[in-house]
Amino acid sequence: MTDLRTETLQAFSAVYGGAAASLWSAPGRVNLIGEHTDYNEGFVFPFAIDRRTFAAIAPRTDGMARVASSFADEALEIPLADLAPERLSGWSAYPLGVAWALRETTRGRAAETGFDLFIHSDVPVGAGLSSSAAIESAVAVALDDLWDAGLDRRTLARVGQLAENKAVGAPTGIMDQSASLLGEADAGVFLDCRTLDAEVIPLGFDAADLVLLVMDTGVSHSHATGGYSARRASCEAGAKALGVEALRDLGVEDLARAREALDDETFRRVRHVVTEDQRVLDTVRTLRESGPLAIGDLLDASHRSMRDDFEISVPELDLAVETALSAGALGARMTGGGFGGAAIALTPRDLVSRVEFAVDGAFLEHGYTAPTTFPVRASEGARREQ
Ligand code: GLA
Repeated sequence: MTDLRTETLQAFSAVYGGAAASLWSAPGRVNLIGEHTDYNEGFVFPFAIDRRTFAAIAPRTDGMARVASSFADEALEIPLADLAPERLSGWSAYPLGVAWALRETTRGRAAETGFDLFIHSDVPVGAGLSSSAAIESAVAVALDDLWDAGLDRRTLARVGQLAENKAVGAPTGIMDQSASLLGEADAGVFLDCRTLDAEVIPLGFDAADLVLLVMDTGVSHSHATGGYSARRASCEAGAKALGVEALRDLGVEDLARAREALDDETFRRVRHVVTEDQRVLDTVRTLRESGPLAIGDLLDASHRSMRDDFEISVPELDLAVETALSAGALGARMTGGGFGGAAIALTPRDLVSRVEFAVDGAFLEHGYTAPTTFPVRASEGARREQ
C-alpha cells in the first residue's frame, strides 16, 4: 500500500472511530491541448496524472452525510435530505455537491444511505491540475458504488460537473471530470465534448524519452469568479452572433466571416476556440502519424493563441513557457483555465534539469517566487483501491 492509501484509511478511523467500507481514488489531470473548447462543445485532449485524491467511505443508517478531509480542520455533517447547492460552501461543497448531484441525477432510483467520508490528496491545489475534479470523481465513484446507482463513467462526469457548476458555482465544462474518470496509463483522452465520445490515444512519451514537466507558477486562480465566466460569455455571444449553436460548429474557413460580423475582442475569443479545436484534431493526427516528438509546435501555437487572442495567460506563465522552450523543451503551453496555475513543457529526458534550472533562474531574475516544477505521467483514471 502506498502512503496515501494507508493515511486515508487511518485518518478515516481516527475521525469516525470505525473502519472504512471501501477506498476509492481519482487523479488530477493535465490538459495536453484543447483549452476553453469544452464548454464550446469542441474537442479536448487531456490525460489523468499520477497525483490522486483518495476517498474512504462507510455507510450510516441515520441518513446523515458526514465529510472530513486532511486539508481542512472542520468536519461537516448534514442530513442527506437537506442537501441543496445553496446550503453548501467551502471545501465541503465539492464532496457534498457530488452527493447532491448524484441524487438529482438518479432521482430516487439509487439506494441512498447516509455516509461517513474522508478525503486525502496529493493533487496540488490551485495549480490548474483539477484538484477539484479529482475530489468530485473520487466521491462520485465511491457514492455510485455505495448507493448501487450503476451510472457509467460519462454520466458520473456529468454528476461532477453539475456539482462544480451548481454547488461550487464555477461555470466550468466537462473536461476535467472526464479526464479523471476515463484516463488510462500512458494515454490521453481525446474527447468530443458535444457527444462525450472518448477515445484513448497512446501518448508514447516514455518510448520517445520525453518527460511532461509541470511548472506550477503559484499564481492562484479561481474559476468561480471573474475571467473564466467572462470568456465563456464572449464565446456564447460570438456563437449567437454567428448563428451557430456552439463555436464547435465553426471551422477555420468561417473566420473571415466572423471577423466581419464581430467586434475585435469577440472575434479574437472566437478565433482562439476555432483554431484550438483544429489544433486538438491536428495533435491527435500528428501523434498517430509521427509520434510525440512532432507535436511541440502545436503546443506552442496553443499558448500563443491563449496569450494573444483569449488573453488568459499571466506574465509568469509566459515566462515559464518561453524559458522552457529556450532551454530545449519541444513544446510548452499554459494548461487549464488560465489566469494563473501551471504551464507544461514537453521535454527530452536529458534536458529536464536544464529546463528546471533555466526556469528557476528566469523567475529569480524577474523577482517572481520560484515555480514548483515536477514531472507527471499519464495514469489510470478513477478506481477502487480496496
Ligand atoms: C477549467 C475548467 C474546464 C475547462 C478548462 C479550460 O479547467 O474546469 O472545464 O474549461 O478550464 O480548458
